[in-house]
Parts: sequence; structure tokens; C-alpha cells
Amino acid sequence: MISKKMSVNIQSGSLIRKMFEEGARLKELFGEDNVYDFSIGNPDLEPPEEVRSALCSLVDSPKPGMHGYMPNSGYLSTRTAVARSVSTPLTTVGPDAICMTVGAAGAMNAVLKSVLDPGDEVILLAPFFMEYVNYIENHCGVPVIVQTDPDTFLPNPDRIRSAITARTKAIIINSPNNPSGTLYSADTLRELNDLILSADHLIHVISDEPYRELVYDGRTAPATMDYIQNLIVCYSFSKSLSLPGERIGYSAISPSHEDFELLSKAVVLANRILGSVNAPALFQKVIELSIQAKVDVPNYEKRRNMLYEIVTGAGFTAHKPDGAFYLFVRSPGDDMEFCKRCADERLLVVPGSAFSCPGYFRLAFCASEKTIIGSEKAFRTMGKAYGLCD
Ligand SMILES: Cc1ncc(COP(=O)(O)O)c(C=O)c1O
Repeated sequence: MISKKMSVNIQSGSLIRKMFEEGARLKELFGEDNVYDFSIGNPDLEPPEEVRSALCSLVDSPKPGMHGYMPNSGYLSTRTAVARSVSTPLTTVGPDAICMTVGAAGAMNAVLKSVLDPGDEVILLAPFFMEYVNYIENHCGVPVIVQTDPDTFLPNPDRIRSAITARTKAIIINSPNNPSGTLYSADTLRELNDLILSADHLIHVISDEPYRELVYDGRTAPATMDYIQNLIVCYSFSKSLSLPGERIGYSAISPSHEDFELLSKAVVLANRILGSVNAPALFQKVIELSIQAKVDVPNYEKRRNMLYEIVTGAGFTAHKPDGAFYLFVRSPGDDMEFCKRCADERLLVVPGSAFSCPGYFRLAFCASEKTIIGSEKAFRTMGKAYGLCD
């Protein structure tokens, strides 16, 4: 007999995964080229050359003990390289602030385990990456969903203020955002910090930043470390280096965090007792050697522009994303129903309901240019079906 909770979770499953599986089924039936799969955020760009050469040099010149146990926070040399990369002219981060983790998912679980007591509340700003709910519930926390402003998807200070209770332990932010692509400006971060600090107790700001480097139109993401006091960054190299299967990321605690000493110890302990023990050894070393590298961001920007033109050309209203690799589009009808109808056109998209934001759908544009170009006819068919274009 499995647990009641897991029985329920198995039944509900993930809408994104379901779409992804439907994509695999349709590709089998109609051929790869005839299915337009925008369902999952699995980067299709290869990792940068620096990653390959770091990996080759580690394999060619193995060091004794390189496959052994290590401190649960990770290699000091890797944490030092990461700490340097996170530091800014205004904020110096030391290696003791860093814990290497199994992706951003591992970082978030270690952080939530460190801060939550049963029944503590965590504010989520919808639309958000749905796994947050699972991560919070893993540690007996209670997700509290607060909608952002329509179409801009920026945090609404009044709504956040009214959601704060004596049990609020943390708020999760994610900029650039999955699924909306919204990037928070320095002013937005400053305002959020003031609001959080005005509460009568400590509220941790957990900033999930796997898309930090994927920003377009010549912009950069403001460093959250410079603006938010009680900040814990969760990061992963899954997107910036196209390494999702290697499961490598980190948590970084701001030196200005009120609970820095205890929290940094707690996160390392949580990393150990959650069962990952430490982040993968080989990829810590790869990261250390290639920390300055990043994937071909202009390539994603080109695809964003192509898909945006196709979708809006078919009459849909879309928020042009500042970052990440998702387009969040207004659904012309019920989003669940719309996405089902899209699948009939072999167009795989994810309903906004999967991100607690019904009325929209998400397209992941980490798909090939061929897929993007090929999808135009299907978008026009859907646009016509809903009276959005001729
Ligand atoms: C917003 C967000 N956070 C966290 C993750 C998980 O990242 P990782 O696979 O590196 O753990 C993802 C993955 O798509 C994501 O989109």
C-alpha cells in the first residue's frame, strides 16, 4: 500500500508531463516533423564548448579522490568560484553562503526544509512553476497563492500585504519567470523588499533564478542580492548551461540575511538528510571550470521573436517575454479546453491552469526553428476557429 498523499498525487499528475507524453505519442503516429511540441522547458541547445572541454580535461587528467565523498556543501573551490560569480560591486558573497545542490529543485527543497515548521505558509505569486506546491508540501508547509497583475505578471503589493499572516514564513519569487517571462526591475525588487521587511516577523525571500542569464533585448537581470535583505537564491545550471540532466545547482544566502549563521548550517544539513548528501562531484568541477560560460542566448531571442510574430499574427494576445524561454498567451476560451483542441492540430501547449493562472496558455520556445516555423498553420487554424483571424 502506498501513502494516501502519493495516491492522490499520482492521480492528478503533472499537466506539463501529460502534454509531453501526448507529444511522444503523436510523434510516433505522425512523425517528428508533423508535431509542434511546445510543452516542456527542456533546453534543446547543446551546452557551451567550455563545458565540453572542462569535462574532457577532468576525464583526461583524473585527480585522486575525485569520485569520493566531500563536505555536504560541496567542494570549497567550487563554492569559491560560485560565490565570486554571485558577488556584485555592492555585495560580497563568501563560499560559506553557498551550498552546491542537485539542481534548483534540490536547492529549494533544502531551503524549505530549513525554514518551515508544519503549517507555515509560503506565498506563491501566480503564475508560478507548479512544482513549488510539491516542494512546500514535502516539508509540511502550506502554499498561499497570490495573483500577480494581469498581463504584466508583476507582483501586486496590496495583494501580497493582505496575504501575509503570522504563519507566513517565506515568499517565492522567480524572475525571469516561468511561465510568463516577466523580469522584475530593480524598483520592483526594492519595493518587494520594503513590503516584506514591513511585516512584524522575519519572512524569507526565496528567489528561484534558473533563468537569470536568459534575458533579451540587451537587458540584464538586476542582482537580487543587491536589493533584498533576507534573501536566499536558488539557482541551477540546467538552463544557463543546458545541463538539466546533470542535476547541478546551488543555494546562496545573502550576507545581509538576519539568520545567516544558522540558516547556512541548516541548508547544508538539509542537503545531506534529504538524501542527495552532496551535489554530483564531477559536475561541481565542470561548473568551477566553466562558470563564465553560457548558452547561445541570442539564439533563444531569435526564436522568441519568431514565435511571438507567428502567434500574434494569428490573432492571439501574448505577453512578449523579457527572459526565460516561454511565451504566455491569452487563451481565447477555457484554457484546458483550448489546449485539448490544439492537440487535435498536433500543437502541444500547456494550459495556464497548470501554473495557477487560468485563461492563458504557455509555449516553451526551446524548440527547433523548424518546429516554430512549421507551427504557423496550426496557430492560424486555431486563430480562425476562435474568430481571432481570417
Ligand atoms: C522556475 C523553475 N524553477 C526550478 C526548476 C527546476 O530546475 P532544475 O531542474 O534545475 O532543478 C525549473 C525547471 O524547469 C523551473 O522552470
